[in-house]
Amino acid sequence: MESTGKSSFVVVANRLPVDRVLAADGTPTWRRSPGGLVSALAPVMRKYHGAWVGWPGSSDDAPGSFSSEDMDLVAVSLSAEEVAMYYEGFSNATLWPLYHDVIVAPEYHREWWDAYRRVNERFARKAADVAEHDAIVFVQDYQLQLVPNMLRQLRPDLKIGFFLHIPFPPAELFAQLPWRRQILEGLLGADLIGFQREGAAHNFAALADRYTEATAEDHRIHTADGRSVRVQQFPISIDVAEITDLVSEPDVVMRTAHIREEIGSPEHMLLGVDRLDYTKGIGHRLKAFDELLAGKEITPDDAVLVQVATPSRERVEAYQTLRDEIELQVGRLNGEYGRIGQPAVHYLHSSYERPELVSLLRAADVMVVTPLRDGMNLVAKEYVAARTDLRGALVLSEFAGAADELGDGAFLVNPHDIDGLKRTLLAAMRIDDAEAEQRMRALREHVLHYDVTRWAEDFVATLRAT
Ligand code: ADP
Ligand code: F6P
Repeated sequence: MESTGKSSFVVVANRLPVDRVLAADGTPTWRRSPGGLVSALAPVMRKYHGAWVGWPGSSDDAPGSFSSEDMDLVAVSLSAEEVAMYYEGFSNATLWPLYHDVIVAPEYHREWWDAYRRVNERFARKAADVAEHDAIVFVQDYQLQLVPNMLRQLRPDLKIGFFLHIPFPPAELFAQLPWRRQILEGLLGADLIGFQREGAAHNFAALADRYTEATAEDHRIHTADGRSVRVQQFPISIDVAEITDLVSEPDVVMRTAHIREEIGSPEHMLLGVDRLDYTKGIGHRLKAFDELLAGKEITPDDAVLVQVATPSRERVEAYQTLRDEIELQVGRLNGEYGRIGQPAVHYLHSSYERPELVSLLRAADVMVVTPLRDGMNLVAKEYVAARTDLRGALVLSEFAGAADELGDGAFLVNPHDIDGLKRTLLAAMRIDDAEAEQRMRALREHVLHYDVTRWAEDFVATLRAT
């Protein structure tokens, strides 16, 4: 449906919540976009009936504005060259690795930076067009860090919030960035800057103090032009009701049982669900699983690993290399320990609908979440939400933001410590029902208490009060 109105609540994100993809016969269709940002914000947007400004995920002509699921979607077009330089380049080969502990080396190219600036300007102009007078504009994530300041120049009447879904690095890493001052000044255009963890808010304040003319005082930053910017932690969460509703659907209940049968009814099903990203520690997880099989601490009848690896950023070199490495590891594991009709690892390089994902979460005895660095990790929270039966165990990396809240009930692990990871996987597999229930209760207390609606309400209320 066409829509041309202005909105009092505008989300600006790199992606729209749906991607425009071409069907086999060439007709354009829409598919839910990948990643945690969309999972978290889609329910919030349905509640606020706002407008969502974003890129529709392909470089052909954007369809303009249209409505979907109670939100106005406003498309920002990117040319193929901009996708290569702004999205694949500066966003995902410069900022992404820099902000995730330089797990792979960030690349610094001036043409990428120019494209990033140009595209951020386009997003800012589009948001300025769509926002009503005095509207709230909520800018998302590392792809759009210049938008707050650009938007403030265009529309000083707006309340501007920014939320970073990924970690914000410490000075020793951030200082590498040739455009560090510009990024910090871009963010300081917001009235409120939200981070997943307290440490990230602290890193940002210290860096703004050091590299811009602003001065930081605890959670407030005073800018050179006399404004005050609040920086604060807002750990993002999930749509608990969506998951609990799905859990009780008869199709999901049936599918959960089928999944167990289809993988050969092992004693333990271990599950990983991640975008195929080098930050997620998939290789470390496979190595630990491999060594457990090699040492005969588990057998392929005891334990089967299902690894969903969602296709992601497939034209970026580091992601292509990662895919080769992971698929080599999976192939070796299955060659060594699998039998006809019974692989040790079920590797699924695909996107799934929500009911299938929830069925997988329900089927798994052990959810394995082992990122080397992760802003939050919503999959960990989704697993907890899905376990209304108070069963199952969560193995969680201490380097995921979720570890701050879920440390009590999860089996925390350092994924670099392969022996520790092996011990933890075994402990999670061998947990008895009473301990599982006790841990799951502790986990659910956190997740159910603070869902994504509360997260959004907290953020928006704080923004209004600034
Ligand atoms: P990231 O934002 O880095 O991708 P998160 O764990 O925070 O990581 O969020 C991932 C989101 O994507 C979750 O909501 C998860 O359910 C969803 N997801 C992951 N894999 C798939 C898949 N194969 N198909 C559909 N959704 C997926
Ligand atoms: O915060 C994680 C994030 O980068 C989001 O910004 C993004 O929507 C998601 O992961 C998926 O990544 P991409 O949009 O590059 O496919």
